[in-house]
Amino acid sequence: MSQFPHLLSEIEIGSCTIKNRIVSTGHHTYLADVEPGDPLIAYHEARAKGGAGLIVSEIIAVHETASFSKDLLCASDRASIPAFSKLAETCQRHGAKVFGQLFHPGREILSATGGMLPVAYAPSTVPNERFHIMPKEMSEALIGDIVSGFALNAAHLAEAGYDGVEIVASHGYLPAQFLNPRVNLRDDAYGGDAERRLQFVREVAAAVRAAAGDLVLGLRISGAELDDTGLTQDEVSAACEGLADAFDYFSVVAGTSATLGGSVHIVPPMGLQPGYVAPFAASVRKATGKPVIATGRINQPQVAEQIIASGDADLCGMTRALICDPQMPAKAAGGKLDDIRACIGCNQACIGRAHKGLGISCIQYPESGRELEFSGHLPAPSAKKVVVVGGGPGGMKAAAVAASRGHKVTLLEKSNQLGGQARLAQLLPGREEFGGIITNLCRELEVSGAEIQTGVADAASAAVTVKPDAIVLATGAKPYVPALDGLDSAHCVTAWQVLQNEVNPGSRVVIADWRSDWIGIGLAERLALAGSAVTLCVNAAMAGEAIQLYARNHYVGRLHKLGVNIRTHMRLFGADEDTTYFQDTLTGDPVLVENTDTLVLSLGHVGDEKLHKAFDGLAERVMPIGDCVAARTAEEAVYEGMLAGRNL
Ligand SMILES: Cc1cc2nc3c(=O)[nH]c(=O)nc-3n(C[C@H](O)[C@H](O)[C@H](O)COP(=O)(O)O)c2cc1C
Ligand code: SF4
Repeated sequence: MSQFPHLLSEIEIGSCTIKNRIVSTGHHTYLADVEPGDPLIAYHEARAKGGAGLIVSEIIAVHETASFSKDLLCASDRASIPAFSKLAETCQRHGAKVFGQLFHPGREILSATGGMLPVAYAPSTVPNERFHIMPKEMSEALIGDIVSGFALNAAHLAEAGYDGVEIVASHGYLPAQFLNPRVNLRDDAYGGDAERRLQFVREVAAAVRAAAGDLVLGLRISGAELDDTGLTQDEVSAACEGLADAFDYFSVVAGTSATLGGSVHIVPPMGLQPGYVAPFAASVRKATGKPVIATGRINQPQVAEQIIASGDADLCGMTRALICDPQMPAKAAGGKLDDIRACIGCNQACIGRAHKGLGISCIQYPESGRELEFSGHLPAPSAKKVVVVGGGPGGMKAAAVAASRGHKVTLLEKSNQLGGQARLAQLLPGREEFGGIITNLCRELEVSGAEIQTGVADAASAAVTVKPDAIVLATGAKPYVPALDGLDSAHCVTAWQVLQNEVNPGSRVVIADWRSDWIGIGLAERLALAGSAVTLCVNAAMAGEAIQLYARNHYVGRLHKLGVNIRTHMRLFGADEDTTYFQDTLTGDPVLVENTDTLVLSLGHVGDEKLHKAFDGLAERVMPIGDCVAARTAEEAVYEGMLAGRNL
């Protein structure tokens, strides 16, 4: 009997039978522009092959005023039908159903297309806080035109063989703007009271139904926008009750794009609990009596099973879970739970890359989003003896990929445990789940058959005994400590020493944070939680500047609550016993942080080239990867590890 009787059972929604309850919800991949091409189709095909029951392909701009960002799909032109058809057919061949997302952002403009900010249209001229957009009020004629755009795109998707469409009323986009009394100030057919605020969505639903025949029709909506200016849980439930007859299902998420705090929930980072959206889904389910998809940090089938079994939802969006492991549904069905590479909610390579306008991927699974480039790892033409030196994420990936291709791989790690810097990262508050990357890579290593030796003090001598054909050097990096005035006399410690409890930070701590990534903000939180008064001095325009926006805002919000003093544009200059000296990077003026007893350095890392000399000539090929070449992030380390494993 399956461990997942609810998750893996089929369900009927409208005219459609879906083989299980696992949904890849709509996500903007930046793998296509205007119409689906081979990279996007290969991406979705991998998820369909892996067993996802329903694939909702990404947002489709329904009107010329829907200029949200670059690389948007659009089905307004009949000529695009064959491309959409190819996407649908390819996924349907593997048993998945395919729905499309019909989208208009209203006043939410993520990025200017072609460098020019378009005119944004919204129900009323109410400014957007996050993007600083002052929209123009829509005329009734424009509203009618946009409604027709929804219908036209739906008709073309129906012709392309899609199984369903959903209207994106989530995250404060145009339909949600009509629903929100603080954003819709109209007093006409589309606003003035709760009933009239439903009118736009009703018209869209009716027009889509009329145009798209018996396609399944859903509404994606935030069960609560989780911001004081956004829709509340009660408002959403009431609106959904009023719209229940118009839709076959509701797809429930949380948050709003309109504010920095609300947007954290669009792609919730690891600091938020798995499945925390389930109660919002439950209230929409109760209000509508319709099937509901719950989505938000459901990263494991066990969590999804529990949500469905408890009656909070009927299906679960497991979007990053599928970005990270497209085979997850098949592994769940086959009882291979240890083999599931669980998403850790780091947001780094999925939404992090998307926000840079780059095709999405995953830090743990760089093959994701690059299906055409890396479709499987072919067996090696001849088995070689390979030594990998260093058991951080890069070395682990290199060893696992090389061994899975048939090489005889020995992984040598100096310490007693694998994981490298990921072991330290998981010690930051709210970052515990980062350790999941170690668990997942350990399993990949185990399955690959690579031999692992830990506690190896002299890797060069150990390598000699193996007589390898190739050596992959993945020795990582150590903290960078520059020669600055007074650091010897100050109580100056490194971030690593604090994380490993090797030092006793005092009650008045200053953190010099050059990298402006997870480490500085995480240390600030950890020390503030331990009772220290913390000043976080970042050499950047904002704390956490280098990390993905939703993750940054979640963690910086926690620092605000803890009263951490954040100073920006601060270049470390020197220190003495109770003062740290900075220079303002904009003006060059000195800035003193006085009355401190501990200076914590988070100034980046540097590889140890000297280590590598010991491996010269020990093998025909010596391949350095990751941080030991130049300190960067786990994403580059794992990617380069995968390449090394493939290229051997
Ligand atoms: C790269 C990326 C792009 C996204 N773009 C969209 C989108 O176009 N439309 C949408 O409704 N949600 C979008 N989302 C949100 C996802 O559909 C989903 O709600 C979110 O990832 C949370 O679910 P998860 O925890 O299962 O990943 C996006 C998510 C990611 C990771
Ligand atoms: S990059 Fe991080 S958050 Fe994104 S899918 Fe991979 S593990 Fe999950």
